[in-house]
Amino acid sequence: MDAGVSPVALAACPFELGSWSRDQLERVERALSAWVAADAPAGLGEAMRYAVLDGGKRLRPLLVLAASEAVNGHPDAAVRAACAVELIHAYSLVHDDMPCMDNDVLRRGKPTVHVQYGEARALLAGDALQALAFDLLTPEYSGIPAATQAQLCRLLARAAGFEGMAGGQAIDLASVGHSLDEAQLRAMHRMKTGALLQCSVMMGAACADPAVAVDSRTTAALNDFGAALGLAFQVVDDILDVVADSETLGKTAGKDAARDKPTYVSVLGLERSRAHARELLAQALEALDRSGLSAERTRVLRALAGAVVNRSS
Ligand code: IPE
Ligand code: IPE
Ligand code: MG
Ligand code: MG
Ligand code: MG
Repeated sequence: MDAGVSPVALAACPFELGSWSRDQLERVERALSAWVAADAPAGLGEAMRYAVLDGGKRLRPLLVLAASEAVNGHPDAAVRAACAVELIHAYSLVHDDMPCMDNDVLRRGKPTVHVQYGEARALLAGDALQALAFDLLTPEYSGIPAATQAQLCRLLARAAGFEGMAGGQAIDLASVGHSLDEAQLRAMHRMKTGALLQCSVMMGAACADPAVAVDSRTTAALNDFGAALGLAFQVVDDILDVVADSETLGKTAGKDAARDKPTYVSVLGLERSRAHARELLAQALEALDRSGLSAERTRVLRALAGAVVNRSS
């Protein structure tokens, strides 16, 4: 694992999540480093690698790999899916930080990509990372069935696009200075952040052998698990923006209030937001209880859900 990567609250998790995560993170870091090539022209590769490597909790890849393990998924498909979703996430962060969006200067403990390389290169690095994600999902020579490749692309495209992350980001920007009610806030958070996390779980599930169809009850339960976890993640992000410091977060704290963004904390207050994150964790775990998957198969997903809600960065 690269020194800059900070696994999700490893210290606070049961031992098996710690050692499981370390192994999986090593696989993901190796694969990302191999696939995000430095030789893209005119410094583009350097900016892409800067955006992706040496930082980040890698929660989305871990969710893909945990969900894939739960359904005995295709290992190569799972590692490709894990990296693809992280590339989309990294691209979304590069653009989110740009002056035309949140105008942030610190990300993953380093200057943001546009601060380091200029706005035009940051924009293009984001574009290229997005395209690379879909390239990874469609290898020409591999044992990954075509139906699996297509399903992985479909899931990721929908979660990243206007019905998911990009749509949610548009609402986020349009909401600055406006007050949203809880339902509107929930809808925005589900799109801008929840969709990609939910998609991570569903991409893991989609790595199952297409000939051994995953039970529809299992698919529905994993979908509900991902939805609850995805929303919980952004509720906690809103809380941490208020209670944590910039050094711990690796990004500027306090910026939501400074920019007058509607957040769970601004709408519900700190204590009700914390209680809501705990409720969402309970909903996520309850979804796994009705998945039909054994406790053994879902134990990593359970531990990751706990780590998301109890994290400090
Ligand atoms: C930050 O996501 C952006 C949101 C969607 C809230 P993460 O907290 O997962 O960021 P990294 O990947 O660890 O840097
Ligand atoms: C960003 O939400 C969600 C994305 C799609 C990138 P935020 O703007 O709250 O994320 P941070 O706090 O900058 O990481
Ligand atoms: Mg933002
Ligand atoms: Mg931001
Ligand atoms: Mg935030």
